[in-house]
Amino acid sequence: MAFISMRQLLDHAAEQGYGVPAFNINNMEQLLGIVAAARKTDAPVIIQASRGARAYANDLMLRRMVEAAVEMNPGIPIALHQDHGDTAATCFSAVQNGFTSVMMDGSLESDGKTPSSYEYNVAVTAKVAEASHWVGVSVEGELGCLGSLESGMAGEEDGSGAEGKLSHDQLLTDPVQAADFVAKTGVDALAIAIGTSHGAYKFSRKPTGETLAIERVKQIHAKIPNTHLVMHGSSSVPQEWLEIIRKYGGDIKETYGVPVEEIQQGIRHGVRKINIDTDIRLSMTGAIRRLMATRPEEFDPRKFLAAATVAAKDVCKARFEAFGCAGQAERIRPLPLDVIAARYAAEDSRRAA
Ligand code: G3H
Ligand code: 13P
Ligand code: ZN
Repeated sequence: MAFISMRQLLDHAAEQGYGVPAFNINNMEQLLGIVAAARKTDAPVIIQASRGARAYANDLMLRRMVEAAVEMNPGIPIALHQDHGDTAATCFSAVQNGFTSVMMDGSLESDGKTPSSYEYNVAVTAKVAEASHWVGVSVEGELGCLGSLESGMAGEEDGSGAEGKLSHDQLLTDPVQAADFVAKTGVDALAIAIGTSHGAYKFSRKPTGETLAIERVKQIHAKIPNTHLVMHGSSSVPQEWLEIIRKYGGDIKETYGVPVEEIQQGIRHGVRKINIDTDIRLSMTGAIRRLMATRPEEFDPRKFLAAATVAAKDVCKARFEAFGCAGQAERIRPLPLDVIAARYAAEDSRRAA
């Protein structure tokens, strides 16, 4: 089986009413854990790499690892996605390196920190969508800034995110503007701001409707029912892994993530792609700390990394099951990207007629 187009995968998820986790990778163990879980549950998956991941692991290494995963798991549809592309150049270099999907995050300027103007976001995202679609590559845009509705602070702590204090309007995607954005850019999927943020510190207590605006998902979905919605910052920050990290010497303060039940609500209202990085990081860190502490004589890194891989696999398996993605792999036949490109071209000429 070949790589799958993210658009084809999310269309299938929409038809069948499930959500697809998009897991971040930076190294082989993360990929092995994710793919083992996908195989175990017969789930399709989106593997994504941030700019940081590409710099860390090298494009060629990442691409070849994911190609190997595809070859070794012919029954599992896998999309390879650029997470938070900051410029059109980043997105096109990902396409050049074999990614089948890109995110143009034009909600921020090209410094990846400053909230951009709406006009800039539309222009840069439309440019990326037009050219990516020529070669069958799917495109995700973002409208609104990730950050905390609790504190009003932007989510700058990790990878990609605005800096400083944001207004309530910036922190919540506007449904009417979302419809205009999708019409003007032609994106396949739209990342929305609803109070989630990247990293481990999302909420200081279990979120409520005030701090995690699932109602807003419903309003956006009602306006753009045919656009696949994306929830970023969707790690659930498992308390059991936090306890293990603390028990074995780690320093993680009290914090809460996005409850799986809230994500399931989102899936009932048009969320099709759910971004998860932190949960894998936390589980791997916990597993490594525990093994190092309980087996101080051990010095073979494979032992630590194998334990970390199992921990990542367990987290991913639970998400595939919770999002209704388990069992869906055998129901999808990935189409070649040139067939997908022809579909975009046909859509364009229908619109122009
Ligand atoms: O966008 C956020 C992801 O968690 C990626 O983070 O830039 O540290 O790889 P990163
Ligand atoms: P988490 O930090 O919640 O895992 O979010 C990851 C993400 O949104 C990557 O784009
Ligand atoms: Zn993100």
